[in-house]
Amino acid sequence: MALDMARSGGPVLRVENLGVRYGALQALADVSWDVGAGEILGIIGPNGAGKSTCYDAVTNLVTREGRVVLGGEDVTDVPPHDLAGRGLRRAFQQNAFFDHLTVLENMIAVIQDEWGTSFGGCIFRPQAERRRAASARDAAAEKLVRMHVPREFHDRYPSEIPYGTQRMLSIALAHGSGAKVLMLDEPAAGLGGDDMAALVELLEELRRDGISVVVIEHHMDLIMSVADHIVVLDQGRMLAHGRPADIQENEAVLDAYLGRDA
Ligand SMILES: Nc1ncnc2c1ncn2[C@@H]1O[C@H](COP(=O)(O)OP(=O)(O)OP(=O)(O)O)[C@@H](O)[C@H]1O
Ligand SMILES: [Mg+2]
Repeated sequence: MALDMARSGGPVLRVENLGVRYGALQALADVSWDVGAGEILGIIGPNGAGKSTCYDAVTNLVTREGRVVLGGEDVTDVPPHDLAGRGLRRAFQQNAFFDHLTVLENMIAVIQDEWGTSFGGCIFRPQAERRRAASARDAAAEKLVRMHVPREFHDRYPSEIPYGTQRMLSIALAHGSGAKVLMLDEPAAGLGGDDMAALVELLEELRRDGISVVVIEHHMDLIMSVADHIVVLDQGRMLAHGRPADIQENEAVLDAYLGRDA
């Protein structure tokens, strides 16, 4: 495919012919795309187009057809938690935190879960365990700051921090200590100007870090400015796939979506 040719490393995540059916509703049909290291793929489409369902399909949360290849390996049958362990991470459309834990403790919980996965089966001495807890704490604080969640909020509960920072916290928790692919579902929903600018900055930092980012968004300005490629979904099907400039001129997209919603 032409998009692949321009890339040095080949796709990090490739999905092929994804299909999801809910009873009589074909929520997703024949959807294929890929994303490389340091690339941002945008997914747009009207409400109910199947965007979130597409993430459910990729992360094996629903019964679906098709194939998912991560880092060259077929992971179609790998369960959701193991996919996260392999670096395929997702943030949900609604914020989801442990409300009874502080911001920092939320991040520590994610990091310890990851470390638990990679060190599973080891037996730690108490001293080593204490060191591990301290380094999880340091790693969590550092990660939060890098993901635009300032220290002043670390000891607060998620419900007490500003909404824009809650969205950043969602991304930080999804990213954990190291995502290869980060799938974000409407990260800009409800954000004002300053928070939007911070989000764009964060997306560009993730790209510079070589992470593959997939972003579902309704904010056209945001997606057109940050995405390398865009997939347009409509009624579960791929209406178009291309670079932002091509999508903006695509007749079918203008008719079905941009024209109708803009
Ligand atoms: N668990 C489910 N059971 C039955 N139908 C579902 C389920 N989840 C989603 N749907 C339906 O599948 C279609 C696609 O929904 P989806 O949530 O993927 O849309 P979306 O593009 O993310 O929309 P939005 O922009 O509003 O978030 C919709 O018609 C929705 O009602
Ligand atoms: Mg959705």
